[in-house]
Amino acid sequence: VLSAADKSNVKGVFAKIGGQAEEYGAETLARMFATYPQTKTYFPHFDMSPGSAQVKGHGKRVAAALVEAVNNIDDIAGALSKLSDLHAQKLRVDPVNFKLLGQCFLVVVAIRNPAALTPEVHASLDKFLCAVGTVLTAEYR
Ligand code: HEM
Repeated sequence: VLSAADKSNVKGVFAKIGGQAEEYGAETLARMFATYPQTKTYFPHFDMSPGSAQVKGHGKRVAAALVEAVNNIDDIAGALSKLSDLHAQKLRVDPVNFKLLGQCFLVVVAIRNPAALTPEVHASLDKFLCAVGTVLTAEYR
């Protein structure tokens, strides 16, 4: 459960990310596909070459969903309910992959905004990303 301090830490870091969220999303996906190639199996129809417009475009969508979750941090399940249906019923993404994506997002934040990622913020952001993953996999069982 996200504490009041967690919520404020997560909002703070996303405020710093600001208009760069799309780039963070694109880098997160590129990093996930490079570091954990098994995640590519869900995207057989994607161009995976460096700088792929498809990967960038999808990164934008993922980032927008994360921003939506931050903006509705007291009701992440409600905010992402359609995405939850999609990932569980149609895409059937194995839950382990959400941890991999979350790790990659944390690494991107650490690289692009190291000052923002104090240990406390790191912990809060990790909890938030786990909460998003839990919502997106909630319909599996
Ligand atoms: C599609 C968000 C994790 C696989 C999407 C879409 C969004 C999204 C916004 C587009 C939905 C639409 O077109 O209406 C997220 C978020 C995640 C996450 C916020 C976690 C924080 C993952 C993971 C995988 C994955 C871990 C697999 C490794 C897919 C696939 C699609 C998709 C295969 C469809 C892509 C396409 O054909 O265009 N996701 N996702 N997602 N997601 Fe996720």
